[in-house]
This record gives sequence, C-alpha cells and structure tokens, in this order.
Amino acid sequence: MQQNEERPDAGERPLVELLDAGSAYLERKGIPSPRVACELLAGRLLNAPRLGLHALLPLPVGAARAAALRRGLARVAAGEPVQYVLGEWDFRGLTLTVDRRALIPRPETELLIDHVLAAQALWRNEQPWVVDVGTGSGCIALSLAQERPQARLVAIDSSSDALELARENAVRCGLATRVDFRKGSGCGDFLAGSIDAVVSNPPYIASGVVPTLDRWICDHEPLAALDGGPDGLTCIRAITRDAAMVLKPGGCLFYEIGDDQGPAVRDILESHGFADVTIGNDWSGLVRFATARLRGV
Ligand SMILES: C[S@@+](CC[C@H](N)C(=O)[O-])C[C@H]1O[C@@H](n2cnc3c(N)ncnc32)[C@H](O)[C@@H]1O
Repeated sequence: MQQNEERPDAGERPLVELLDAGSAYLERKGIPSPRVACELLAGRLLNAPRLGLHALLPLPVGAARAAALRRGLARVAAGEPVQYVLGEWDFRGLTLTVDRRALIPRPETELLIDHVLAAQALWRNEQPWVVDVGTGSGCIALSLAQERPQARLVAIDSSSDALELARENAVRCGLATRVDFRKGSGCGDFLAGSIDAVVSNPPYIASGVVPTLDRWICDHEPLAALDGGPDGLTCIRAITRDAAMVLKPGGCLFYEIGDDQGPAVRDILESHGFADVTIGNDWSGLVRFATARLRGV
C-alpha cells in the first residue's frame, strides 16, 4: 500500500487541532469568546451547525478549507466582528445578510419584538400599520412580517446603504412583498393619526461614548447606527415627536434604549402625550426597552 493512502494529505489536520490552534490565536489577540468565534467560522466553512461540529472533530479538514479558516481568523483577530466575516447572522429564525452597511442585529433586539407581539391592543386591529424607524438590516420589520402575517409594515432608514441591505434581506427571506422600505428621517411623513404602532431601535449612544466602545464595534459598525447625539437621545426625541403626530390615539410606541436612559425616555414620552410608559429590562437585568401608548382612548 502506498504511504499516502492510509494517511491524510500532508496539508490536512483534524478539525479539533485547527479549532484548538485557532481559539488560542484569537485568545492571544484579546478577542472575546475565542472558541465560539472559531467554531462559528469553521461551521460556516464546513456547512455544519456550530453545535454539530463535535461529530467532525477527529476528521481531517482539507488544505483549502483550513486556509479559508485561517483567513477568517486573521480578519477576526484584526478586530472585524465575526458576524461580518461570516456574512450572515440569525435573528428570530431568519438568516440575514450582515455587512458594514448596517448594524449587526443584537439578541436584545429579539426581545424588543416580544414586546411588540405581546401588545394585545395592537393585534386586535385586523391589519395594523406598523412602522420600523431605523430599520438597518431590516431585522425588526422582517421578523414582524414573518411572525404577524396580518401586519402592514413600513421600514424607514436615513441610510441608503442600510436600506439596500434591508431590501436584499427581504428578498432573501421571501418577505419582499410584505415590507415597504422607504428612505427618510424619523416617521413624520404619514398622515396624522394613521399608524397603529411605531417600533425603533434608534442610535442611542452618546457621541462622546462612541469612540470608547469596543474596537470591533466602533471601527466597523456604521457610526449612524450608534451615535445618538450629545446625550444619546437625539433620535428618540425626534421619533417621539413624529410618533405623537402619526400614531392613532391609543397607538403604541416601542423603543430599545440605553441602560441609563430609562428616566429620561419616560420624561420624553410623557411630555409628548404618551401614557402607560413601561421601562423594561433585558436578560442581564439592565434597562433596555421603553413602551408606551399615545393618550386619547
Ligand atoms: C441602532 S441601528 C438599528 C438597526 C436595526 N433596526 C437593528 O435593530 O439592528 C439604527 C438605525 O437607524 C438609522 N437612523 C439613524 N438616524 C435615523 C433617522 N433620523 N431616521 C431614520 N433612521 C435613522 C441608522 O442608519 C441605523 O440603520
């Protein structure tokens, strides 16, 4: 028997060795959760779910895939978010394209959708009009379109790049006919009293704090998705002002907010005629959401 027939190719190493070496490399570079990042990249290259990789650990990985893994690891080590390197990310069961055109959808934002779905008064409308302000990748509007087939959705962003990505994601998810994507600022362009709900994960980080964020955030994600002005509340004030005009009486407003913004957002909402203001926490117990209803019913 030829020597090469019973051994893997000289360039091939078992997956477990590549994962060990790759995670150690990312750890040395100070990347958080290095093993997870390495497994995500390997899973993408091997077309396997990350949690299914254990069955493949002893198997040799071909030289071409190992080289592709090394290229991905180098990008992550240089500070690029692993989600952008992967080029796609899951959000509430939808697989979305992600790249530098828009913010990477965060797990907390999945909880914002739960708040919208739980608003019984909203879903008593047969075909409620729901507006997603600052749609980014489209994650909020597309999830609502997927999970509430009766909803009529408009998704707005001031960034042409983000809108382009959101439209691509709508096509990718088979939801292109369900969401009307529009370029604009805020949500003031609707008829007064015509909208049932406004939902937004606006930029809410104070301008002075943005440069202090982790480098894989502030060096790679769009500034317009992060920077909420001097106190982080510029967009929230503007959207609240718009929402107070375009929502129906009793219409709902749902925000993702910063963990130190609860009292200020409550004030903004109450001073614009909103009632039943609720400030909610995320899984880690930090303030993350504000919901309210426009007075009038
Ligand atoms: C924090 S990102 C949220 C993206 C996405 N909705 C998500 O949850 O991942 C905020 C988005 O709002 C957009 N944006 C910023 N200011 C805006 C404004 N005045 N009107 C509409 N969109 C705005 C940004 O371009 C960005 O895409």
